[in-house]
Amino acid sequence: MAYNLLKGKRGIIFGALNENSIAWKVAELAHTEGAKFTLTNAPLAMRMGEINKLAEATGSTVIPADATSVEELEKLFSGSVDVLGGKIDFVLHSIGMSPNIRKGRPYGDLKYEDYMKTLDISALSFHKVMHVAEKQDALNEWGSIVALTYIASQRNFPDYTDMAEAKAMLESIARSYGARLAKSKKVRVNTISQSPTKTTAGSGIAGFDVFFDFADRMSPLGNATAEDCANYCIAMFSDFTKMVTMQNLLHDGGFSHSGITERMIEVMNK
Ligand SMILES: NC(=O)c1ccc[n+]([C@@H]2O[C@H](COP(=O)([O-])OP(=O)(O)OC[C@H]3O[C@@H](n4cnc5c(N)ncnc54)[C@H](O)[C@@H]3O)[C@@H](O)[C@H]2O)c1
Repeated sequence: MAYNLLKGKRGIIFGALNENSIAWKVAELAHTEGAKFTLTNAPLAMRMGEINKLAEATGSTVIPADATSVEELEKLFSGSVDVLGGKIDFVLHSIGMSPNIRKGRPYGDLKYEDYMKTLDISALSFHKVMHVAEKQDALNEWGSIVALTYIASQRNFPDYTDMAEAKAMLESIARSYGARLAKSKKVRVNTISQSPTKTTAGSGIAGFDVFFDFADRMSPLGNATAEDCANYCIAMFSDFTKMVTMQNLLHDGGFSHSGITERMIEVMNK
């Protein structure tokens, strides 16, 4: 059922790689809720992914941009304002990648060049997105910007290695730019800390299935799905959340506040 929550709003959605991507679900729901938006991803990822299928289904234009390149982001923002016919009301940053995780390196043996890439792609890119949006004055007042994060920013999960620092930085950037954009444009900036989700990025973490089951058992409501996350993102882009800013919003079925659960005790007793 659609509620027209985003009727008349214009957005930019980063990170839809394939139909498992959280950004893919957000784009589908944003379309159902009446938004117009551009889709973007790194040129290389776009060749591997199926973004054109999503663009067709949602009547969107695809504008490639490597989110680490300020120049490409400038073209993305000016192109989006042109294509959509006005300033931007919402942005979803749904980007994460660690070359160290891809190569299976343990925390004590990370390659620093790749560490810098992890931080650039997964965290600094969020700063660059808002830097460009602000410089171009591309955002409408009362706009909403959301980035996706994970609780490994605050608690140790050994296999998450350098992505833990990237997520901590991402959440900090949301607070700093949240204060800045609130003052200049009444724009809100938040991160949504999502449960483990079966996507390309998620499944790249070593032992992901165990990780996923553990989180599910430790969450009184169970793991939040990508569809649940899309619902939350749409609520955050809607006018019903205008005064929520600079927050790290835990969207995890209660995982972050559970000590132990009955479903976990069942496993321990086996
Ligand atoms: N899947 C999970 O378990 C989980 C849990 C919590 C948070 N998250 C976060 O959700 C977000 C989306 O990930 P997902 O799970 O949907 O996986 P995904 O692999 O579908 O999405 C990650 C996206 O990042 C894009 N990307 C990588 N490098 C880029 C670059 N240089 N420029 C632009 N885009 C680039 C990829 O092409 C891809 O579309 C990430 O920030 C991830 O850390 C995921």
